[in-house]
Amino acid sequence: MSVASTNFEPHKMIVAEHIQQLKKAINHKKNANPKGVIGFVPTMGALHNGHLQLIEKASQESDIVIVSIFVNPTQFNDPEDLKKYPRTISADIEKLEKSNCDILFLPHEKEVYPDGINSYKIDFSGLDKVMEGKYRDDHFVGVAMVVERLFDIVQPNKAFFGLKDFQQVAIIKHLVRVRQIDVEIVPVNIVRSPEGLALSSRNQLLSKEQKEDALIIYNTLLFGKSLAKEYDNTADILRHMKAYFDKGSLKLEYMEIVDPNTLKPLQSLEPGAHCCIAAYCGEVRLIDNMQIR
Ligand code: PAJ
Repeated sequence: MSVASTNFEPHKMIVAEHIQQLKKAINHKKNANPKGVIGFVPTMGALHNGHLQLIEKASQESDIVIVSIFVNPTQFNDPEDLKKYPRTISADIEKLEKSNCDILFLPHEKEVYPDGINSYKIDFSGLDKVMEGKYRDDHFVGVAMVVERLFDIVQPNKAFFGLKDFQQVAIIKHLVRVRQIDVEIVPVNIVRSPEGLALSSRNQLLSKEQKEDALIIYNTLLFGKSLAKEYDNTADILRHMKAYFDKGSLKLEYMEIVDPNTLKPLQSLEPGAHCCIAAYCGEVRLIDNMQIR
């Protein structure tokens, strides 16, 4: 069933399923505001307050806000993960209608990848080899492939990305630099539950108890931040943090303290040092990070 808008009412969100519909919707908005700045928020849906915060920021910094929902198959290295990724489109549309989103773009796979999924090459200067890149083969190639394609379709002036995916922000900044794409990348702070769990679409897959268990990630990051006041040596900090983390029930995949620009592990703390964690809570893989100095 199509959810695309058929006529454009003022102040009503337009839903575009095809590129043609999207272009028409953008032209419609541009007619009313020819110099309007286009702000773009790409997502994979299952929207929560983290996504809504990006949309809020986009509406503060732009005139026309476009959100996309596309569960991108090329960034999932595990087909099971792709299959169980939450899809909640009706609830998403309801949330977006209450937000400042002007246009929702819901593309079909064959419009995003009209020639099928061909090989895509980009040199990330090593940014894709650390942390997430070590455990999720070609994940960032898939992310860059889809984001470059979406930028090409949407032609935004600004695009908003959450720092929850700290490495993704570095990858996207690198992408626009090497491909010379004329778009400003705006990073947005992590949105957390009142208890501190970083909001994520994957949290929907956690039970109430698991959500409590998962707080060990945030608490370990806070502990790391407090240790960073006393220690400079990252090996010492990580040792204490890992011991603390192991008191919980999650399975650690990695915990690293990195330079915020190169994402290379730091031996000694520097201003801007970031600690990044990936861990499994049951079957669900969670990531989080915090600037610790
Ligand atoms: P998705 O996981 O849906 O996230 C969409 C955007 O929301 C990303 O920029 C992500 O960093 C941001 N976000 C998610 N949780 C957040 C939180 N708790 N606080 C702040 N921002 C948060 O990231 C992707 O989709 C995809 O990789 C995508 C960029 C859309 C490419 O397919």
